[in-house]
Amino acid sequence: MPFVCSECSYHSIKWLGRCPKCGLWDSFVQENEAEVDDASASWIDGRLQAINDIDLAETKRLHCKIEEVDHLLGGGLIPGSVILFGGEPGVGKSTLLLQISRSIAQQHGNVLYVSGEESPAQLKLRATRLGVNEEKLFVLSEQSLSRVLQAVDKIKPKILIVDSIQAVICDGVSGDAGSVRQLRAASSQLARVSKLRKMPTFLVGHITKEGSFAGPKTVEHLVDVAIYLEGRQGEDIRILRSVKNRFGGTNEVAVFQMGEKGLQQITNPSQFFLENHRSEPRPGTVVVPTLEGSRPILVELQALVSPTGGFHSPQRRTSGLDYNRILLLLAVIERRLGINTGGADVYLSIAGGLETKERATDLGVVAAVVSSLRDRPVSNRTAVVGEVGLSGEIRNVRKLRDRISEAEKLGYNQIIVPAASKARRRKNVDVVAVDTINQAIENLLLD
Ligand code: TYD
Ligand code: MG
Repeated sequence: MPFVCSECSYHSIKWLGRCPKCGLWDSFVQENEAEVDDASASWIDGRLQAINDIDLAETKRLHCKIEEVDHLLGGGLIPGSVILFGGEPGVGKSTLLLQISRSIAQQHGNVLYVSGEESPAQLKLRATRLGVNEEKLFVLSEQSLSRVLQAVDKIKPKILIVDSIQAVICDGVSGDAGSVRQLRAASSQLARVSKLRKMPTFLVGHITKEGSFAGPKTVEHLVDVAIYLEGRQGEDIRILRSVKNRFGGTNEVAVFQMGEKGLQQITNPSQFFLENHRSEPRPGTVVVPTLEGSRPILVELQALVSPTGGFHSPQRRTSGLDYNRILLLLAVIERRLGINTGGADVYLSIAGGLETKERATDLGVVAAVVSSLRDRPVSNRTAVVGEVGLSGEIRNVRKLRDRISEAEKLGYNQIIVPAASKARRRKNVDVVAVDTINQAIENLLLD
């Protein structure tokens, strides 16, 4: 039977004195043997089913009526599903879950919100701020899993929220709250109870600032759905992203804005991010259709290139974009367009607080930099998309058709795209295919 490190969950066939991964001594324990509880196999009747006999009525989804959340989950909550809800401290997990709790309590019945970190008074403060005062919403400040399960037995909630899984302690399991062993034991027990009761359960998991998923990631395989809430520092935009979904698409996103009364959904993100764009063309701004999951979102890239004053070394600052990618693109601009930015400061950002590492924004970055440097605007009804290669060639991007449609929907009448895509002209959009950044710059009238 295999052994596992109780600290970092490293697996080994033999028992080891010291874990080769995390270096801890005496941390190996035997993995539980699969329970073979019923040798007579009498359980088979009633459990073994022909696939054609399975009744789908049982999997009717529970809607939380926050459309963006329902959509992200693939159309609502599946009975008995376990949803891991990760994010950095302070990003807004408890806020969104309280909003979901309100909605479920209003429509479907009891909700149990367990907090292992906050007192009832703290929960009440947040609820007051959000205007949440549902009779059927119950809170419990508790860390012990067995007590949580007793409370579940008592109020039979429609959904259970455990905020956070890192604060839950399973009796009889060694290790501190939050250790891999505790996390796994608590998650699997909660998963079993959810399935039995057909009760969806949210497990909150904190992710540390360094982006270490060590905690929540180790239970991802135990859950049905994993979603993460992300936000850029100092910005009020929040992106909820599904990274795993047994019942729907993954890599879907929902966009929210944190306000005075909690998280407000943004049902038309492109419109939101372009709010200030269409008024007049400005040098250095370019609209790019990015793709978040399967969802095209139009964003405005902004570049400011200005001569470095005094004896400083040139600055390069980015926000919302990949810094190293920008350095590379500046090198491509220098070599392939013969435009030198070595004596200038370059600032680049995405307006509105979205963050993307998508290479489809490359051509937009090049266009914005050149536009700012030459002080010539790109038409404010033109969108630009394409990955840029080291020799200045434009490479194809995925789901170009959806991106073009999104631009068309928002009233853009020209889009610069990779020639390799073989995209065709649309009724209302002039689709301009380019092979190199030189052609793109020419078409954008920036040379
Ligand atoms: P919270 O949901 O407690 O974050 P998490 O559970 O992920 O740690 O949210 C914390 C932040 O959100 C906090 O800085 C206050 C802010 N906030 C608002 O801006 N508006 C609101 O309506 C609420 C409830 C919180
Ligand atoms: Mg919280």
